[in-house]
Amino acid sequence: MRSFTFLAAASLAASAAAVPLDVSNDIAERQTKPYQIRGVQDPIYHLYLQSLPGDGTPVMGPEATSEYFTIGNTIQSTNTSLYLNIGEASTSYLPLTFDATATTTAWGLEGDTIITTNGSPYGRQLNFLVCNGATAGYYDLFLQKGSDTPAGKTCSNYQTIHLPCLC
Ligand SMILES: *[C@@H]1O[C@H](CO)[C@@H](O)[C@H](O)[C@H]1NC(C)=O
Repeated sequence: MRSFTFLAAASLAASAAAVPLDVSNDIAERQTKPYQIRGVQDPIYHLYLQSLPGDGTPVMGPEATSEYFTIGNTIQSTNTSLYLNIGEASTSYLPLTFDATATTTAWGLEGDTIITTNGSPYGRQLNFLVCNGATAGYYDLFLQKGSDTPAGKTCSNYQTIHLPCLC
């Protein structure tokens, strides 16, 4: 009887503690669980971030070959371990690369939207430029700080990229 009482008390204590523990686990899970990153508007509606086969540049492409990413102030593919970095250019759109080292620590999330953070060298940006790639079905992706587009390419400005719904 004594041990029963002890067990009942222990399990009561455990269930009382379970509520705040579950909440913090949920938050931790959202921060550490890998997510797909997708487009939400034509022409990249429900295309997903991944490296172009045989080339390795970041592109938006089919869901079947989507990679998963751990997103904090860096974005790392759990498939390839490579980090999404922002390059330099004199245009308002900046190239993206996947590299073994994270040189960009500007990333963040605003709700489900991928942004560069206010305090970063880019300021708060959430627009991306996509252009038809050399491989059909894949779109080259750039961070877009303004409204420049490359001549001679079919591009779409003011795209945003997102995690799947977190609801
Ligand atoms: C990336 O990793 C996820 C999770 O392990 C897997 O489901 C998916 O098929 C992988 N994608 C590729 C292109 O390997």
